Amino acid sequence: MTDKKHIRDKHSRNLFGLTVLKNSHPDARRLRRQAGEPSLHGNKLWKSTTVLMDYLQESPPPKQSRILEIGCGWGLSGIFCAKTFDADVTSLDADENVLPFTEYHAKANNVTTNTIAMRFEDISAEQLEQFDVIIGADICFWDELTDTLYQLINRAIEAGVPRIILTDPGRPPFRDLAGAAETLATEEPKLNLDVRYTDWDVPNPHNAWGLVLDISLKGEA
Ligand SMILES: C[S@@+](CC[C@H](N)C(=O)[O-])C[C@H]1O[C@@H](n2cnc3c(N)ncnc32)[C@H](O)[C@@H]1O
Repeated sequence: MTDKKHIRDKHSRNLFGLTVLKNSHPDARRLRRQAGEPSLHGNKLWKSTTVLMDYLQESPPPKQSRILEIGCGWGLSGIFCAKTFDADVTSLDADENVLPFTEYHAKANNVTTNTIAMRFEDISAEQLEQFDVIIGADICFWDELTDTLYQLINRAIEAGVPRIILTDPGRPPFRDLAGAAETLATEEPKLNLDVRYTDWDVPNPHNAWGLVLDISLKGEA
């Protein structure tokens, strides 16, 4: 076995057809050295990404959708959409130190994504209206993020984004966010929202469990 192949096999894995670095991979160590340590937990691939990929396989976006991944970290959910659904993907994160990991993984998986360093709070309705689908995995992990993301969801609905899909390992701030989205759909029927809030098991490749919040304009999911 060549040295390169040995390193690739030992320090990377296959997830839903994607090549994903382990943190032990020499390239991961190099990227961290060059970019700096992530500061908002974007330091690895989180399991909610697996939940999101599996859910999207069951309930896919239309081919060639314009997809915005928010809080992308290593960006694998968006990269999965580019590869599987031929999506036009934008990967956004507040922490610019994670974006080299997204760019690396896009290249390793033969797709492209546009990376943007921006906070959830700063994404305007005008920017959101350029997308068909917003996705995010494990991004509601602090109490203050519940309101930040609820406001973002409201701006996206105002902008006419047809679908927003978020996954989470079951943290209380996310459960609060999902509850608020359900209340919004019930109390504002004119918004024409379908809210699907469900748990999701992914037995393979390694047991993952999570919650899915899928908000769509009626008839769009
Ligand atoms: C737990 S990590 C999840 C990363 C990735 N989605 C995954 O599943 O592997 C949370 C991500 O959200 C980003 N993040 C946290 N607060 C943010 C904010 N206010 N605006 C944009 N991104 C934020 C972090 O930098 C980090 O990459």
